[in-house]
Amino acid sequence: MIGIIGAMDEEISQITDKMTGVAVTETAGMTFNRGKLNGREIVAVRSGIGKVNAAICTQILAADFHADHIINTGVAGSLRNEINIGDVVISTDAVQHDMDATGFGYKPGVIPRMKISDFPADERLRKLAVQACREAVPSVGVYEGRIVSGDQFISDRQVKERLTKQFDAFCTEMEGAAIAQAAYLNNIPFLIIRAISDKADGSAKMDYSEFERRAINNSVALLTCMIERI
Ligand code: ADE
Repeated sequence: MIGIIGAMDEEISQITDKMTGVAVTETAGMTFNRGKLNGREIVAVRSGIGKVNAAICTQILAADFHADHIINTGVAGSLRNEINIGDVVISTDAVQHDMDATGFGYKPGVIPRMKISDFPADERLRKLAVQACREAVPSVGVYEGRIVSGDQFISDRQVKERLTKQFDAFCTEMEGAAIAQAAYLNNIPFLIIRAISDKADGSAKMDYSEFERRAINNSVALLTCMIERI
């Protein structure tokens, strides 16, 4: 059973449209769509925004659906000049940038009393995603690197620079590292796949609805291609 957590309703509905034998259940205000995509058993769900929603959603996928892989897709702000709007970032690992126990002597992002705070994405899922991206959406730029998450929409150049320097990260969003931590605690391989929607500095964005449509088409094509190989 592969759990797919999406940030956007439109993304999840494009996936459920392609699924067969869909059974719907509601837990914690989230709609879990269980069925088959390309011959594989999956559960597709929109978690809602932020780390708490994301962690609860992941825990339900683990406990109620016995997910053996978890993939998170959505959009993110770029933290690097060379990563542009429309490009895709595939996680090598994920860190919570707003975890701050520095007053207690810990480095930024380090979760006190946990063995690790930079949760590594599954190597096999990473390879499959890069391959699927090159095959299904060859015109899209694909990068592999660290993704940082926090309960903050980043739109300030100075905050962006701090995140880039402190964490050596490729992009920032609001769920991935929480999903990563919940998946780690449940011993489930995970991957985050994010399309870049903005530069995380408040600069001009492209036509959002046009971008969103393209990002959703790309991520659904990538996922569909990838899923049958997992
Ligand atoms: N998701 C998309 N862009 C983002 C940003 N700049 N900060 C946080 N989450 C995002």
